[in-house]
Amino acid sequence: MPILSDMIDLFSPLELGPYALPNRIFMAPLTRCRARPDGVPVPMMATYYQQRATAGLILSEATCIAPEAVGYPNVPGLWSDAQVTGWRPVTDAVHAAGGRIFAQLWHVGRVSHPCYQPNGALPVAPSAIACPGKTHTPSGDQPRPVPRALETDEVPAIIEQYRRAAANALSAGFDGVELHGANGYLPDQFLRSATNQRTDRYGGSIENRARFHLDATRALIAVCGAERVGVKLSPSGVFNGMSDADPIATFSYVIRELNKLGIAFLHVTEAMESDIKHGATNFPVATFRPLFDRVLITNAGFSFEKAQRYLSEGAADAVAFGVLFIANPDLPRRFREDAPLNQPDPTTFYSSGAHGYIDYPALSSNP
Ligand SMILES: Cc1cc2nc3c(=O)[nH]c(=O)nc-3n(C[C@H](O)[C@H](O)[C@H](O)COP(=O)(O)O)c2cc1C
Repeated sequence: MPILSDMIDLFSPLELGPYALPNRIFMAPLTRCRARPDGVPVPMMATYYQQRATAGLILSEATCIAPEAVGYPNVPGLWSDAQVTGWRPVTDAVHAAGGRIFAQLWHVGRVSHPCYQPNGALPVAPSAIACPGKTHTPSGDQPRPVPRALETDEVPAIIEQYRRAAANALSAGFDGVELHGANGYLPDQFLRSATNQRTDRYGGSIENRARFHLDATRALIAVCGAERVGVKLSPSGVFNGMSDADPIATFSYVIRELNKLGIAFLHVTEAMESDIKHGATNFPVATFRPLFDRVLITNAGFSFEKAQRYLSEGAADAVAFGVLFIANPDLPRRFREDAPLNQPDPTTFYSSGAHGYIDYPALSSNP
């Protein structure tokens, strides 16, 4: 159970499922596009994650559950044996350094492009509504086509892909899995009314729109146990053309249901700066605190001070840091010592190679 107390801070230990975490400074899931084109992790990724193993918990970069789930170049997967084998040195390296790592499981749905799809097919989605913006493809940015709406009887096969990917994650040595239920990707496309105009059991009422999310979560639980499963949600997010007719009702429902499933954590991002610029309303994580009994992680734009305030107020139990962890492999130590932070270089976030990936310096061991 989360502890509401002004004694709690980022350095307080935390129980998450079966794991005793040494701190509440989590590494947010961060796509870095360094895997092989076939989604197999490369050895450099073991170095990258090991450098960051002092995080209370690492959430891996989004990792595709199937070839149809892919929508970005050089992102890793967890559907093939070669990918499972490629992840093993990564999870081993994190464990050898005393850390823990959950795999974030991803299906981008309509955010993809035929160039990523088997046989150049259209990407699939709840409804045939195009995602605004462009997809990064190896031949430059391309507008996204109108996706193909999934038939009702196709949905269980995608849920099965989540289940298999979760089983593969455990085989690859991950400590658990996080459903990427946020940021306008497939589960979020089902959940929110702007992208779901279905009239079958996966559309219409909030209960029906939440069904995909909850079925996917149940599939992960069937493999990993609820104590090794978490879900990420972005109620304030407008990225990838998202909106909802009644966000508080929609997200309160899905959070209550996730709570009943007994998952180990819920990861709720607040509005990102880019969301606010695009007119988003921020729903503070505290709005949802009363609805979820176990570990509540929050994220997006947190400084050390803001994170400490949220924890001391009991608004959340842990904070996931994204950009700060890209640039500062030893972020917990820097926070503890009030040391200066390295500046991130956004031009290398999605580039290739070691630069901007594994060459951010840690503090020297004898300051
Ligand atoms: C380079 C980059 C890659 C990201 N990739 C993912 C991802 O794979 N999965 C995900 O859920 N969020 C992803 N995000 C969002 C982050 O997890 C996080 O929500 C965001 O960076 C805001 O947190 P921060 O201000 O601490 O960076 C990404 C963000 C960045 C900057």
